[in-house]
Amino acid sequence: MAKTARNRARGAGGSARVPVEKGGWGSNRPVTASPLGDAPVREMGEMVERIRSAAQRHSERFELALPLIASENLLSPYAKELLISDLHSRYAEGLPGERYYEGNEQVDEIERICLDLAKKLFRCNWADVRPISGTVANLAVLKALAEAGDLVGTARLSEGAHISSASFGAFGLRSVKPVHYAWDAERMTIDVPKTRAILREARPKLCLFGLSLFLFPLPLKELEPTLQEIGALAWYDAAHVLGLIAGGVFQDPLHEGVQVMSASTHKTLPGPQHGILLAQTQDPEVLKRLTGAAFPGVTSNHHLHAMAALGVSLAEHLAFGRAYARQVVANAQALGAALEARGFEVLASGLGYTKSHTLAVRVAREGGGAEVARRLSAAGIITNKNLLPGDTSPKNPQGIRLGTPEVTRVGMREKEMARIAELMDGLLHHDRPAETVREEVASFKRDFTNVHYCFAAGEAAYRYYDLVGRPPA
Ligand SMILES: Cc1ncc(COP(=O)(O)O)c(C=O)c1O
Repeated sequence: MAKTARNRARGAGGSARVPVEKGGWGSNRPVTASPLGDAPVREMGEMVERIRSAAQRHSERFELALPLIASENLLSPYAKELLISDLHSRYAEGLPGERYYEGNEQVDEIERICLDLAKKLFRCNWADVRPISGTVANLAVLKALAEAGDLVGTARLSEGAHISSASFGAFGLRSVKPVHYAWDAERMTIDVPKTRAILREARPKLCLFGLSLFLFPLPLKELEPTLQEIGALAWYDAAHVLGLIAGGVFQDPLHEGVQVMSASTHKTLPGPQHGILLAQTQDPEVLKRLTGAAFPGVTSNHHLHAMAALGVSLAEHLAFGRAYARQVVANAQALGAALEARGFEVLASGLGYTKSHTLAVRVAREGGGAEVARRLSAAGIITNKNLLPGDTSPKNPQGIRLGTPEVTRVGMREKEMARIAELMDGLLHHDRPAETVREEVASFKRDFTNVHYCFAAGEAAYRYYDLVGRPPA
């Protein structure tokens, strides 16, 4: 049986798909049922089935696509299992052994394991697995280590910083003011001499390192003496590169002068959608402030199912993460070289394109980031438009960002990166129709639909789990 058919058979429970009604549900039309009575059961059953059907079609779409979003990845089967466990229905507040709710004995056991694994993986003395996302982890750091009105060092959005650093993001929410580092656009990293001068002049209290367009390690060791001189704490947002750091192939911030690291746990670390805080410091005041930051600062319950899944992902990374992380970076470099050989303008070409999972490609010649990302998506190659240095319009940037975590997770290697570049070249430089390329993408991807670098490797990566086996009444 073809793999997508198998996915469907396991997934849909044989139920017919409900046709999408134009102008009906899902189009913001007001609910027709009386606000005082129950909605008709049959109608609501159809809604449930439409949602299930869309999720199944989504799984099938991704199974036969090339997902190259740098911030996405695939969960392992054991981690996925925990997401639908009873833990999802429970509450735990506080720390293991000091909860505000009863019934948390097993949650405490899981959280303690999770904390031990996190400290082991990142070789640090403090961890918190309660932030429910990377942004929430960032808010927790800002709550712990900054006050309204403080200055905090960061890169600019157009240089790759995450929206957490923006006035309309976490920085704004906490009312801290950015001090922008000087940027070396050639080398896609912080300009050290100019930034030293900026830091000495502005004297921020906290300095954030970390990016969403993260090609090269940042100059932490070089800037550490300046941070010490001005008394600033170093904070690293490892959302993108967490799995590479843990896999030993990227810089190791907590051993390069950084006191606290925040991250999402679902990008290069192929874990559940969640967040984490890690610290390497003996400063009791910093530890005390950090301990109260996620809870009660910026979360109440910490999504126990996701926390347990994170424990699985951390254990799997300790067992399989090095080989995976090496291949992620090797694939990104191979894709960069193959794209350049086919006439694409890959940034930092003189520096080997990247030392991470990410590539930045200037596609002004091909129609600009928005247009190119849209055309690629129509051909089954899923990317995102991205600001590049010098860009001013987030809606119409010159770049696209490509990432290799997911294609690596399904077992692709350097040879497959050359094929991806060939498919992109055909579409964008030789006017091959999107439909033709999409079929070629699907037939290429059919051999790469199983998850690797985890326990139960070889299981279907995009499987839709039908728990009930029949559609709602
Ligand atoms: C550098 C960085 N920090 C934080 C985040 C936010 O993570 P989350 O989506 O888990 O809130 C992202 C997300 O893309 C990111 O790139």
